Amino acid sequence: MKKYNHLIDLGDYSVEQWNEIIQLASTIMKNPHIYEGACTGKIMATLFYEPSTRTQMSFQAAMLRLGGGIIGFDNPETSSIAKGENLKDTTKTVSAYSDIMVMRHYLEGTVKAAALTADCPVVNAGDGGHLHPTQTLTDLMTLTEEKKRLTDLNIGICGDLKNGRTVHSLVRAISKYDNNKLTFISTPELGLPDYLKKELTESGTICKDVPSLEEALPELDVLYMTRIQKERFISDEAYEQQKDVFMLNMAKLKSAKDDLIILHPLPRVDEIANEVDDDPRALYFKQANYGMYARMALILIMLDYDMKMKPLLNGGNSKGLECKNPRCIVNNEHGLVHSFVETNGVHVCEYCEERI
Ligand code: NCD
Repeated sequence: MKKYNHLIDLGDYSVEQWNEIIQLASTIMKNPHIYEGACTGKIMATLFYEPSTRTQMSFQAAMLRLGGGIIGFDNPETSSIAKGENLKDTTKTVSAYSDIMVMRHYLEGTVKAAALTADCPVVNAGDGGHLHPTQTLTDLMTLTEEKKRLTDLNIGICGDLKNGRTVHSLVRAISKYDNNKLTFISTPELGLPDYLKKELTESGTICKDVPSLEEALPELDVLYMTRIQKERFISDEAYEQQKDVFMLNMAKLKSAKDDLIILHPLPRVDEIANEVDDDPRALYFKQANYGMYARMALILIMLDYDMKMKPLLNGGNSKGLECKNPRCIVNNEHGLVHSFVETNGVHVCEYCEERI
């Protein structure tokens, strides 16, 4: 098994390493000129099989500001994928041209599957409705800069907690810091997946479900708004029932704390009224800017350090068990071995985390 410093889930790194990345990001933001040539001669590939503005461009801007070069695609139809090339062959080829590879894909577990055969470190820039660790680095940096702490925060997370990969990575990370409370503002249909609820309970993080923004807002230190993930719904009707349920406007914000900060991974659809943008508590565009520095720090650390990665798969071919998630890469790409880890009699797919 190769030992590159892949970042598939933030849990691949220790909390001390997350803190190191955030600290370096802050230093770079304050002294950008010092890092201008830090990646001269290095190449980053960005392979985006799903739309992106911030993640892709902030990664590219990060590498360019470090003096490195970029290659890649944001439309697989312009690459040999349109001719039928599989994930393994694309990964093998592109990783031979690059020093670091950033990948986003619409199927869960794809970036881990790519890392299995890549010849350079791989970063998960979002795999379906599963995880988005570099958005979480962005969020952790934003909290550090704006709230001066990652502990003792009451964080409200509103919108599509079921399909929102930014939410999944964020709650996992927040639960590793002391004394945070999570307030979930969602519909029963779009609540957090059970496996994450269980992880949060086991970590001792205090969680509560609140049905409306009005009820949640007075208590919150941070409000993390999210978009209803239209592309992950099985039908237009199902999406229509969920869209516009939660909308933040100035009237609702009247009851919020003066030092609340409002975050959103973006893109926004209708869940935050434009009028909120002028409120000093609205920090989502600043958050997007922090993301570039967080990614500069991540690139530097990934290229410089041997962080002794854990193996990507631990279970091997688990006694004929097969993942049942149709959106898992293992059910969509030939040649991948189904692989599970077992905890307390439950088998967890090592690509997408589906439980059987
Ligand atoms: C998010 C994503 O792609 O998951 N955007 C981002 O990366 N900043 C959020 C979303 O699409 O709603």
